[in-house]
Amino acid sequence: MTSSSVALQASSLTVFREKTPVLSDLTFKLEAGQIVGLLGPSGSGKTTLMRAIVGVQTIEKGSLQVLGLPVGNRKLRSKIGYVTQSPSVYGDISIKQNLRYFGTLVGANNQQINTLLKQVQLYEIRSRLANDLSGGQRARLSLAIALLGAPEILVLDEPTVGLDPLLRRDLWNLFKNYAKEGVTLIVSSHVMDEADRCDYILLLREGRLLAQGDKKSILKNAREARTIESAFIRLVEDNKEEKR
Ligand SMILES: Nc1ncnc2c1ncn2[C@@H]1O[C@H](COP(=O)(O)OP(=O)(O)OP(=O)(O)O)[C@@H](O)[C@H]1O
Ligand SMILES: [Mg+2]
Repeated sequence: MTSSSVALQASSLTVFREKTPVLSDLTFKLEAGQIVGLLGPSGSGKTTLMRAIVGVQTIEKGSLQVLGLPVGNRKLRSKIGYVTQSPSVYGDISIKQNLRYFGTLVGANNQQINTLLKQVQLYEIRSRLANDLSGGQRARLSLAIALLGAPEILVLDEPTVGLDPLLRRDLWNLFKNYAKEGVTLIVSSHVMDEADRCDYILLLREGRLLAQGDKKSILKNAREARTIESAFIRLVEDNKEEKR
């Protein structure tokens, strides 16, 4: 891996919230142009790690670099798109007006906005008020907003939660297309099945990395587990054994 193809690099990254460590000693290196799955149960630290990546979380110890720069660096602002776990859009204006509003902040023009609307399949209903959208439509609007500045890194916190299978598939296909163009996507989920869609997986538990790698290698290292979910359980049990 050459240094220019490294999108993210963490070294002993440790984050505290209210004096308790919620991320402990994370070390990983992520290649650009990949879909990285951040998987782990509720409370395992997914959102906290995403906050650290986008530069809004104090880092207690260790380091975290994005595109070769320390997180929080001003130059990274326009390079990272972030969709939070409960994304906010303006409900009393239309889809298109939301994109225009957020677009002016990053200098997106009308043509770019229309292209994005087509990509997320909202072009036909672009005049509809954001308040009147279904959960899936709202998720796609938030995604479009995050994509406005053509970011190199896209951080998506549980983007597919509550979506029907077809919509989930469409969204993952969209993610794949972006990855092909060289965008690095960090996608969190507590649904372990979503590992199938990821090039690289960070498996978190209680703020620690239980495993990392592509799906195949994680399964292999978990005594030939058949699914990421069973790998997760085995690795947790193996850790308990070791501690005894
Ligand atoms: N503002 C805060 N102050 C103190 N502790 C917090 C704060 N926010 C989160 N935590 C704690 O940090 C830990 C990790 O939380 P985080 O939100 O990163 O988990 P998560 O993996 O995103 O969970 P979920 O799947 O439920 O979204 C949890 O134990 C949580 O209670
Ligand atoms: Mg979360």
